[in-house]
Amino acid sequence: MILVTGGAGFIGSNFVLDWLAGSDEPIVNLDKLTYAGNLDNLQCLQDDPRHVFVKGDICDQQLVSTLLARHQPRAIVHTAAESHVDRSIHAPAAFIHTNINGTFTMLEAARAYWAGLSGAARAQFRFIHMSTDEVYGTLERDDPAFAETTAYQPNSPYAASKAASDHLVRSYHHTYGLPTLTTNCSNNYGPYHFPEKLIPLVIANALAGKPIPVYGDGQQIRDWLYVGDHCSAIRTVLARGRAGATYNVGGRNEKTNLAVVHTLCDMLDQLAPRASGSYREQIAFVADRPGHDRRYAIDATRIERELGWKPADTFETGIRKTVHWYLDNSEWVARVQSGAYLDWLDQNYAGRALENRT
Ligand code: NAD
Ligand code: TYD
Repeated sequence: MILVTGGAGFIGSNFVLDWLAGSDEPIVNLDKLTYAGNLDNLQCLQDDPRHVFVKGDICDQQLVSTLLARHQPRAIVHTAAESHVDRSIHAPAAFIHTNINGTFTMLEAARAYWAGLSGAARAQFRFIHMSTDEVYGTLERDDPAFAETTAYQPNSPYAASKAASDHLVRSYHHTYGLPTLTTNCSNNYGPYHFPEKLIPLVIANALAGKPIPVYGDGQQIRDWLYVGDHCSAIRTVLARGRAGATYNVGGRNEKTNLAVVHTLCDMLDQLAPRASGSYREQIAFVADRPGHDRRYAIDATRIERELGWKPADTFETGIRKTVHWYLDNSEWVARVQSGAYLDWLDQNYAGRALENRT
């Protein structure tokens, strides 16, 4: 089996669902269920014995060590993190705690577990660390895209905490030989994306008749990847990646924020038209994010050439699927916005022992 951290979050839950759709190899899913963790996402796995959910903190080394000893995973896919840049500007402490201390704890527990393995189990063990392109800082319009060799220049507390965790992961490979792999991925979008991030926020606000906030001039550029393609990249890196390597993951889909917002408004105008006028009328330019990175772009040549990975979706196909998903799942959005999803744990697990409570 494999141990996934943060598997109730946006990318983590997509990864868990994707993995179990394509394989019978079980998953132990360790998630603290912060505001970003949502077991609604995994409701279809409620009675599936291949999914063992554990509510717990990656900073709890005893818990992590116990899980490793009990389940003997062949790999760890570490996705758990505080992930929202704006929150890191207002309240950075949780980012330092989870992203740095939490990754350190995962590495320490993994090192001890791996040291106790022998033969094929030791040779094949992998620690996948899911990171971000934001560690590289910002690009001017004509700069070449981020390569794995680009110097780290993180600009937000979020990016700095992820950069620190990447350095720890690197050092555990270099010093102890732990078979780590790090992926630095561009902006994801798709189902189960928490509506504090740009794409789900625009869809939710548009449909609710609220202003659609665009920071600054809206000319900042992000490189968008459909979340299913990030999941396939992680599977590929786990199967064939070189221990110790880092891989940049991206969709070669650079768009300005305003272009993304316009695309979403135009699609909603077709699929769920307002009584009159266009959703574009709801766009509101607001004060910029402090320290806002201007442009991200990913050079994914290494993962494409070495491992043969390629995204299956273009921005056009991925964004269409995403808008349809949000239109079909308004209940999911409503439960997130009302906070009702936080009750799910009690509803679902009342009378059942969560594994870490046994
Ligand atoms: P998310 O915020 O949606 O989910 C994070 C998950 O981690 C949640 O389920 C949360 O409950 C859990 N978690 C937080 N702190 C924890 C702790 N101390 N112990 C255990 N669980 C904890 O994040 P996401 O957008 O799915 O991102 C997942 C990973 O991918 C992160 O490492 C992030 O840095 C990275 N990443 C995200 C993007 C993106 O566009 N969203 C792009 C590149 C990389
Ligand atoms: P976000 O989804 O928060 O991801 P990240 O900051 O990790 O790139 O934001 C994507 C881009 O959209 C980023 O340039 C900030 C911008 N943005 C807005 O213009 N308005 C918003 O309300 C939000 C949440 C983001």
